[in-house]
Amino acid sequence: MNAIEIRNKYLNFFKKYGHAVIPSAPLIPENDPSVLFTTAGMQPLVPYLLGQEHTEGRRLTDYQKCVRTNDIDEVGDNRHLTYFEMLGNWSLGDYFKEEAVAMSYEFLTKELEIPAEKISVTCFKGDEDCPKDEVTAECWRKAGIPDERIYFYGKDDNWWIAGESGPCGPDTEMFYDTGKAPCSPDCQPSCDCGKYVEIWNNVFMEFYKDENGKYSKLKQQNVDTGMGLERINMLLQGKETPFDTELFKPVMDKLSELAKKDIIESRRIAAEHLRASMMIIADGGRPSNVDRGYVLRRLLRRMTRHMNKMEIDLSELANIIDLDIDILKEMYPELEIHRAEIKEVIINEKDKFMKTLQNGEREFNKVINRIKAQGKDTIDSESIFKLYETYGFPPEVTKDLALENDLKVDMNEVDKLFKAHQEKSKQGSDKKFSGGLSGQGEMETKYHTATHLLNAALKIVVDKDCHQRGSNITPERMRFDFNCDHKLTDEEKEKLESLVNEWIEKELPVSYTVMNKNDAVASGAECMFIEKYPDEVKVYTIGDVSKEICGGPHVENTKELGHFRIVKEEASSAGIRRIKAVLE
Ligand code: ALA
Repeated sequence: MNAIEIRNKYLNFFKKYGHAVIPSAPLIPENDPSVLFTTAGMQPLVPYLLGQEHTEGRRLTDYQKCVRTNDIDEVGDNRHLTYFEMLGNWSLGDYFKEEAVAMSYEFLTKELEIPAEKISVTCFKGDEDCPKDEVTAECWRKAGIPDERIYFYGKDDNWWIAGESGPCGPDTEMFYDTGKAPCSPDCQPSCDCGKYVEIWNNVFMEFYKDENGKYSKLKQQNVDTGMGLERINMLLQGKETPFDTELFKPVMDKLSELAKKDIIESRRIAAEHLRASMMIIADGGRPSNVDRGYVLRRLLRRMTRHMNKMEIDLSELANIIDLDIDILKEMYPELEIHRAEIKEVIINEKDKFMKTLQNGEREFNKVINRIKAQGKDTIDSESIFKLYETYGFPPEVTKDLALENDLKVDMNEVDKLFKAHQEKSKQGSDKKFSGGLSGQGEMETKYHTATHLLNAALKIVVDKDCHQRGSNITPERMRFDFNCDHKLTDEEKEKLESLVNEWIEKELPVSYTVMNKNDAVASGAECMFIEKYPDEVKVYTIGDVSKEICGGPHVENTKELGHFRIVKEEASSAGIRRIKAVLE
């Protein structure tokens, strides 16, 4: 079995049990400033977990593209990935523990043919917020897992929430026993030694944790599950790492062939970061110095540095990217669609970074001459940080070069300086959210209002279930992503333009009211990521044509917008289309 077969088996299995197969949301929830990337399958579904009706029903399944960057420094060991695919199934107030456990067990043992004795499970042991989950344990016993392979843990292990607040609940996790010898007599699934590998998580989401840490019951009992595709694929193939599977092996081999110095960790880092970067770029991400753009930049720099370390000829990069896209395009057709862009962005960034390295190296040499002249043997953290801030010279590189020059580095304070720096950019993005686009110019404000009009027009012209899936605004143009199963026809595009222009000409007033966010949703206001908004939200209305939760600001009257024109309509990713438009 390989990854795509596992994915298909999963989706078909849940389809058989009445789940609608929905497309993966983009990796970049662009209008959700509180998270950089989609990190779990449930994230785009939060409004529905909170009770909003989903057009596809109460049973859903999908594969979701995810990026988690908290582990970026661990990549290179044998299991951490920044990009991964999560298979998931959801009950939105439909089935609960019993059916969820029965389906999970059947899928693992019948479809994936994992011997039952290799499976251990964990359940929530109970605390003041929620009682011990005996119900789930009983479901496991009924399915065929004996007591000695059912473990109970507290919130640290068996409670799931995305971030600090939002829908959450006790979970039950399934572990695969690799057959390795136990590390100690107490070795159990919570142990990190590698004997047990977590393969699936079923979260019983019936609670909501508010900003003050208080739990309340949601109005419905949901199930949210997640299975990491790369990991299960590796285990089923009896491989030690995901890098030994078909998803990475051809690129790993190619890197080995090109390397003058073959370093396995560096190959893994380069292959992993390349794949993650390609996926981010395909979904519209571009390198920059803030937020998600900075994550992408870091991934690409790390990739470049490790290729350098292996003394790979970087003019081969285009070929390596082509190979990687060829391997992955069946799973992710968006990579083929954006092949040219992906190559361009990655190679540009590589070139830029090589220049940075060259400039930084010159500065670095000045620093070491100074340090040596002072008779010291350690580069101070201020200098390390300055090299970074002024020349974009990453501290890891400074560290490597220092060691090569028989110098030590004082990384103690560097972390602090970086945290202060990150805090600054985080505050920047928080401000962007709370103040809406207030820091931005007149054109951006106009485009912002135009996205609301386009969003409303799509529902009339194309499909009432078209919703915004992302947007990006510059002073020159707007870009708007939405779910849609077909390429827009010329007629549809013309109708969209004329409807938006009709509304502009009608000189519709734009205004907002502040509402409780649940009331806002109940009133039919359009929104993307309800859980990420504060309890009180602004609801903007444009005449009687549009009503959306949004931070603003907007123009006061649509007459300020001028003339709306669609420049381009194209695929963004599976099931997602993208419109580029201008106001002139
Ligand atoms: N949302 C759950 C997770 O990410 C399933 O583990």
